[in-house]
Amino acid sequence: MNDVNEKQKVIFSALKPTGDLTIGNYIGALKNMILMTEAYDCYYAVADLHSLTVDNAPADLRRRTYDFMAFFLAMGLDPDKCTIFVQSHVPAHAELAWTLNCYTQFGEAKRMTQFKDKSLKAPENVNVGLFAYPTLMAADIIIHKALKVPVGKDQEQNMEMARKFARRFNTIYGVEFFPEPQSYSFGGDAIKVPGLDGSGKMGKSEGNAIYLIDDAATIRKKVMKAVTDSGPTQPNSEKPEAIANLFTMLKIVSSADTYDYFNEKYNACEIRYGDLKKQLAEDIVNFTSPIRERILAYAADTEYMDKVAREGAEK
Ligand code: TRP
Repeated sequence: MNDVNEKQKVIFSALKPTGDLTIGNYIGALKNMILMTEAYDCYYAVADLHSLTVDNAPADLRRRTYDFMAFFLAMGLDPDKCTIFVQSHVPAHAELAWTLNCYTQFGEAKRMTQFKDKSLKAPENVNVGLFAYPTLMAADIIIHKALKVPVGKDQEQNMEMARKFARRFNTIYGVEFFPEPQSYSFGGDAIKVPGLDGSGKMGKSEGNAIYLIDDAATIRKKVMKAVTDSGPTQPNSEKPEAIANLFTMLKIVSSADTYDYFNEKYNACEIRYGDLKKQLAEDIVNFTSPIRERILAYAADTEYMDKVAREGAEK
């Protein structure tokens, strides 16, 4: 594997079309996925089979699979520069997953923290697919002989499994067939996009997240409802998490002047959160609306979307 040049190195990543895409998704991994297409041979999939482990409304899943493809395109991923496809359109993923399942012990699948967490969260639907999630993800990656996988920190255990399965397969079959894939991290400057409900990062839950397909009225309503407090009582005091989160959002979507203006007001104990949120909402709307328009335009062009998916699957 050492003699491949950079451009031939395979990158694989996939997004699971569960929940709608948020600004957090856009600012996070996705921008980097575009940059990587310049330097590597990139394969990007919409992991619809993985969504089946939690989502069982077929019409919804079909819509979101297309929305995610539209999103890849709207963000600027160019199907001539990388391979964009839908996981279920390439049956080899599921076929290799089956083989890996047969070399996976019940105990090791049961110990996966994501399996344990998800089982606790939805005890009414602890299905066998959920159990086998890591083998399908490993198959996604190693079937392309991918060397690097851009993923978030929460996927580390799944990545460890993927390496283990590659080694195990090679040992059992007595060939160095699958290389061990490494997680690709984006360096230290990744921005964590905060949620609106006062704590942590922007997840996919309603109220906490701003979806890229939210219209202006929805965005305004969500931002105006964001958690605040009664304001600082001492000049230059440290911002509590909920307030710091709003300022982080300003930093992402607003101009530096706007940020400084509200920051000074805060430090002088003259902050009016209503004004801040109004401005923040407008800046978010301006940030997301061109993306939203492109997503909707691509999603409406089902003929083109089918073509991209079909050509991607063939590649
Ligand atoms: N499990 C990933 C997530 O939830 C999605 C995924 C599926 C994936 N297959 C993959 C990511 C292969 C990287 C490589 O985000």
